[in-house]
Amino acid sequence: MGKVLIVDDEKSMRYTLREFLRREGYEVEAAEDAVKALALLKQDAFDVVVTDIIMPCLSGVELLEQIRNIMPDLQVILMTGEPTVETAVKAVQVGAYDYISKPILKSTLLKVVKKALHLKEITDKKQRLEEANRHHQENLEQLVEERTRALHQSMQSSIKVLASMLDLRDPYTAGHQRRAGNLASAIGRELGLSNNVIEGLRVTGYLHDIGKIALPAEILAKPGKINELEYEIIKTHAAQGYTILKDLELPWPVAQVVCQHHERLDGSGYPIGLKNEDILTEAKILMVADVVEAMSSHRPYRTSLGIEMALEEIEENSGRLYDPQAVTVCLQLFRDKGYKITDSFSKTNFFHIH
Ligand SMILES: [Fe+2]
Repeated sequence: MGKVLIVDDEKSMRYTLREFLRREGYEVEAAEDAVKALALLKQDAFDVVVTDIIMPCLSGVELLEQIRNIMPDLQVILMTGEPTVETAVKAVQVGAYDYISKPILKSTLLKVVKKALHLKEITDKKQRLEEANRHHQENLEQLVEERTRALHQSMQSSIKVLASMLDLRDPYTAGHQRRAGNLASAIGRELGLSNNVIEGLRVTGYLHDIGKIALPAEILAKPGKINELEYEIIKTHAAQGYTILKDLELPWPVAQVVCQHHERLDGSGYPIGLKNEDILTEAKILMVADVVEAMSSHRPYRTSLGIEMALEEIEENSGRLYDPQAVTVCLQLFRDKGYKITDSFSKTNFFHIH
């Protein structure tokens, strides 16, 4: 039915109005001034306030202004003894629902209160719906986040398994993939690339030599120099990697970058001989990380050439074979920032939830 608060400093008026409304079935309270009215409003939930304008201390308009600040949805009806256009304008300006002139007619009062209560009911309903909607939205977002996390975890473990497969056939290369992936993502971070691209570089690095699974074991583990034919066979690993990874659905161009990681800016690389502008940025970064890691680590056919020789190789061929920006930050990482290549799978999540 609705709860109404009557505010009037005139006792008889207060009681008359209260009785009018009570008899109609409304729950009604009365206050003799604005201060008492505010205290009651803070204690209890009301739907409509009917207040006199001229009262000692705070006027009805001032009370209305305070109500607007603390309870914007409460409907307020002003009562005035001298109805003028100015009073009406002021009442609307400060946000009164309506105003009625004294002497108060029972029928007018009931009509206005009923309409105000109806409006309050609609506003309350709208608010409840909005609240329910917000709650539903939050639940939905949480659910999506949980599912996305689960999906990412499953992708992460698939990548780990795939990357570790090479451990069985070629432990040297498996460790190399992890180190090159970590270095490539460190270069990406130094270049200011987005977190997504940085993680993509790490994942691609972890898988970039996967095509070597398809190579004969005797070539992979051969100590000493490899001949020209064997080298030609080894070179197929880039395209083999593409074939293995091309159907893997990941949010990065992993298969393409793997295919291009032995291309060189001047077109002297393999398998296609792509030139600068045709090579993906990620591949330009990965090739630098790959060369530096490969040269600085031990291989069955040679001992480590040392990090300094690896850095000299990329420095000398910067702009001709390797991307100058990637080379510059890679050199800075090792020479100025004390970067050390790590062999572990990244402890951070591969994936970022956006
Ligand atoms: Fe490779």
